[in-house]
Amino acid sequence: MAIQSFSSADFSMETVLRELENGYCVALPTETVYGLAADATNGKAVARIFEMKGRPSFNPLICHVDSMEMAREHAQVNETAEKLMKSFWPGPLTIVLPKQQNSSIHPLASAGLDTVGLRCPAGLAQNVIASFGKPLAAPSANRSGRISPTTAQHVAQSLGHKELLILDAGPCSVGVESTIVKTLVDRIVILRPGSVTQEMLEDATGQKVVASDSQSIEAPGMMKSHYAPNAAVELDIVEPDPALPYLGFGDAAGHTAQENTLNLSGKADLTEAAANLYGFLQRLDETGADRIQVAPIPEIGLGVAINDRLRRAASPREDA
Ligand code: TXA
Ligand code: MG
Repeated sequence: MAIQSFSSADFSMETVLRELENGYCVALPTETVYGLAADATNGKAVARIFEMKGRPSFNPLICHVDSMEMAREHAQVNETAEKLMKSFWPGPLTIVLPKQQNSSIHPLASAGLDTVGLRCPAGLAQNVIASFGKPLAAPSANRSGRISPTTAQHVAQSLGHKELLILDAGPCSVGVESTIVKTLVDRIVILRPGSVTQEMLEDATGQKVVASDSQSIEAPGMMKSHYAPNAAVELDIVEPDPALPYLGFGDAAGHTAQENTLNLSGKADLTEAAANLYGFLQRLDETGADRIQVAPIPEIGLGVAINDRLRRAASPREDA
């Protein structure tokens, strides 16, 4: 199948919902840039986003909701965040909040963090989320390292060799990615500047608003912002110590009869492995062992991002 590009007049919501329900990506216009959207609660669907973008590492993705109600299902919404949502949603503002314990957002979408970045986009994207009924993870719909697309044609140029449904609703009105903030007790920190400015945030909340300094940057791929197991992590282990938890891959399956062995993907499927990564690491960490051994993962496709994440988990801790 070639790319299907629909204008907003002739796209079929049914087709869009079917793609999303089946765990595939759809390129959607938002007011900022076109997003590569997938079901945020489905690990394989989220893994496909990283695969399509050719991203060499897993950073937390913004999860898009249709309302404050949906936001509350997935995050603890404090008073300041509520003011921000009332002032700027739907619109180009993302708020990083503590994730609800029972949120169905997949750990791959939030990079294993206990926080989640939420935004409610306007227009067609909001309608799609409302019809879908679940949050959509959506980074910009371009290959990693390219500029963010503001038209359906840009998306097709960047990702067009892939099988992808692209909804065309003309050029985006804002053109730069959303402002990202986190709310602290006494101030708001801007993690990424965007069209919702410091002054606008101050006016809406009466709070002090500061730009993130280099110490507090939670930028893509920063060690600090990622889930790190308590156990030490040893990589490229083919013959694991039976006394230790083992994270296998493909034929490097370890002692499969043992409870402390999990295989990221028995059929060596990197999409499946990416979807299982955070959850399995966490389960092995919960055994309380002081070391976890990990099978070699091929350094191709999504394997690059999986290995990036594993190397961070294995690197010596700067214990804080
Ligand atoms: O305008 C936009 O925000 C576009 C459109 C498509 O909505 N989306 C977008 O999403 O730019 P994305 O997933 O590429 O944004 C990812 C960035 C991360 O690099 C990180 O800076 C921040 O969002 N982020 C997401 N979740 C976070 C979290 N839990 N903690 C800190 N930062 C987070
Ligand atoms: Mg981007």
